[in-house]
Amino acid sequence: MAASMTAEDKTRLAALFDTSGDFLRDGHWRERETPVFEDDAAEDGAAQRVAGGGDSLETIAAEVRECKACGLCALRILPVPGEGVERPLALVIGEAPGSEEDERGKPFVGAAGHLLDRMLASINLSRTTNCFITNTVKCRPPGNRDPSPEEAAACAPFLARQMRVLRPAYILCMGRIAAQTMLHTSEGIGRLRGKFFDYTPDYPADNAAAPAIPLIATYHPSALLRDASLKRPAWEDLKTLLARLQT
Ligand code: URA
Repeated sequence: MAASMTAEDKTRLAALFDTSGDFLRDGHWRERETPVFEDDAAEDGAAQRVAGGGDSLETIAAEVRECKACGLCALRILPVPGEGVERPLALVIGEAPGSEEDERGKPFVGAAGHLLDRMLASINLSRTTNCFITNTVKCRPPGNRDPSPEEAAACAPFLARQMRVLRPAYILCMGRIAAQTMLHTSEGIGRLRGKFFDYTPDYPADNAAAPAIPLIATYHPSALLRDASLKRPAWEDLKTLLARLQT
């Protein structure tokens, strides 16, 4: 993805091109009208809104914060909409916020989150530069139990809308719940991990317009913290993704 530029950067670059052009032609400086540029951030935001049919990450996050669609709203401290960059190379999807995420309103900030950041860094991914991180369910289930089918169904439209706005190049599912939810299957993570699936967006309007997104799953970082023998296969999965990212 190209680095974003401010309007000032673009004006300077245009002036540099003009000066070099003058120099190469005859060395005479010509007066020109100064073009008016916009910051990329503003343009990107507009592009996101068009891609998402007028929706935006901010609107979705605001609605997540107000959401009372399932019983988890009564138990949460803070909902966790997700964080990262727009138009990410990878959309990283976890299960649900844990206790630290619930307190801070950010995804993957506890021990599993630190490991996730290191796993992503090992394949040149990061929530600050080229990923967006979120969960299948945006509020913490009590005692970190699995989200119920009703809770998952109530929350699913938020993830679908985020995907529609984000249009990630790849999807990386962390763990069984994320993989099963995205792939609509009850198959175990041992069989789902390490290979690519074509993810077809849930929104009917997108099915026609948007190409399938390559999706790969691996073990959840919490599982790696519990069982170190899963680290090697998880690393194999990350390398499979890295090989695809490099092509
Ligand atoms: N585990 C998850 O699946 N998501 C988080 O945000 C934190 C821990």
